[in-house]
Amino acid sequence: MLAVADSIKAVRNFQVLFDDAEPSLIDHAGYAPYGKLSFPPAHGERPWTFANFVQSIDGIASFKGAHAAGSDISQSAEDRWLMDLLRAHADAIIMGVNTLVEETLSSPHLNDGRGPVYRIEEELLRVLRTKLGRKREKVIFVTASGSVDPNAYRVFDGDLMDALVLTTNPGAARLQSRSASVKVIIAGEDKTINLPLAMRMLREELGIEHLLCEGGPTFYGSMSRAGMIDEKFVTVSPVEIGLLVPPEQGPSPAAQVKQLNVRPTTFMYPGFTKENAPWWRWMSCRRAGNHQFNRYRRK
Ligand SMILES: NC(=O)c1ccc[n+]([C@@H]2O[C@H](COP(=O)([O-])OP(=O)(O)OC[C@H]3O[C@@H](n4cnc5c(N)ncnc54)[C@H](OP(=O)(O)O)[C@@H]3O)[C@@H](O)[C@H]2O)c1
Repeated sequence: MLAVADSIKAVRNFQVLFDDAEPSLIDHAGYAPYGKLSFPPAHGERPWTFANFVQSIDGIASFKGAHAAGSDISQSAEDRWLMDLLRAHADAIIMGVNTLVEETLSSPHLNDGRGPVYRIEEELLRVLRTKLGRKREKVIFVTASGSVDPNAYRVFDGDLMDALVLTTNPGAARLQSRSASVKVIIAGEDKTINLPLAMRMLREELGIEHLLCEGGPTFYGSMSRAGMIDEKFVTVSPVEIGLLVPPEQGPSPAAQVKQLNVRPTTFMYPGFTKENAPWWRWMSCRRAGNHQFNRYRRK
């Protein structure tokens, strides 16, 4: 494992092209590679919610198949660093359950095939997170159906971070029949989750003021359409990959089940019309090598 000083050296400094956002709340060595970062306070009824994605230059968020993760598109130490920096500013991470399922299937080497744990890797940024007053790291997986088995995933062991599930009543019953100890938040009676209610519960019952949405495209799209996303960090990776899965790419186990041959953009949910499409303010832009790091805030 790299010592802290060595791990900073492995990350190049971001070149700040412009930055109109707020200054950092504290001085800390963790800001050195990226520069300033902070967020406005939470809304009264829901957390201040920022999303983070990496996409190809043609706007695609996953190769699908055996290399479905965002990291396969990013392949950048600076992008990984930024993800940790954003996690340091969040009381919790939230993501659709299919991201956990697909990233587990496409990383069989990780934790004996039991998938990733979505915690901060950089020790220095864990320290920054504590200095910012945040408590134990938390990740919330969203599933209406509750059809996953929590025991199959390393993150639910609960020793490295808290893992919770946001679900419906039937989803909770299904999950708890497999794992009595799984922590659930219920915000929906049947097949859908009431997102405004869910966000209010996170804010009021769990005290979450800043929430990081790490996708995937389906969950992110539903949140954006519901007006629950305040900001979006978009890394543009210098690679072109195409919308349709090419014939030479072997399918992953997940793709075999769902017969997917279309790759997602960052937003895979019913969208907007010209009349109601939301416009965003471009807050900042950085560069590290050939990667571009943008920050947008919804107007
Ligand atoms: N490029 C990037 O930065 C990035 C970031 C994240 C993910 N990804 C990639 O994107 C892929 C996964 O994305 P995805 O769009 O297929 O899946 P996803 O958004 O991670 O998860 C979709 C599932 O989450 C649940 N869900 C989502 N929105 C919901 C809502 N409003 N109410 C209730 N349940 C909801 C549903 O679960 P149930 O069907 O169980 O009800 C749904 O099937 C993976 O390959 C992942 O690696 C890329």
